[in-house]
Amino acid sequence: MAAETARLFFALWPAPEVQGALGDIASRAQRECGGRAVPARKIHLTLVFLGDLPRDRATVLETLASAVKGSCFAMSVDRLEYWRHNRILWGGMDACPEPLQTLVARMQDSLNGAGFRCDQRPYVPHITLLRNARRAPADNHCPTVAWPVDSFALVESAPRERGREYQVLRSWPLGG
Ligand code: 2AM
Repeated sequence: MAAETARLFFALWPAPEVQGALGDIASRAQRECGGRAVPARKIHLTLVFLGDLPRDRATVLETLASAVKGSCFAMSVDRLEYWRHNRILWGGMDACPEPLQTLVARMQDSLNGAGFRCDQRPYVPHITLLRNARRAPADNHCPTVAWPVDSFALVESAPRERGREYQVLRSWPLGG
């Protein structure tokens, strides 16, 4: 029987080849910085994290997401950053692309308006590549990974025997 609550978030979910390229960067960084590399199939960019919700709220989230309009854009991941407080090494970019910032703001507005609690901190696009990393990389640059973004997704994070697995529940196209 399905659990009554589900841990849900909206994310950009990359195509397998983009996940593979970011997974290669994670493996290389792991050799230098230690920690655990996120497997390529799990690599993503969170837009809005919602946390544990009654499972039936997913239907409301789908209705809200269907009304959110956003534009396709090209994203280039070319930087590695390290958060000492939680030992996460992540991939990012110089500046948040404007269409990404707009998409996140529209989603937050819609979700807040419907009574969902979302993170109120300024949005920092981060792609987790290593967990429990021991140190920052000597060089903050990494090979550029081109990520053409043309959709966003509602994703469930579910506990499994060997950590959490992610399942894309539904995705929505972005406009041209
Ligand atoms: P992380 O990779 O930095 O842990 C699924 O857990 C996704 O939601 C991950 O991208 C995770 O980011 C993010 N996430 C988990 N808890 C969060 C929180 N409290 N606030 C914002 N994002 C969170």
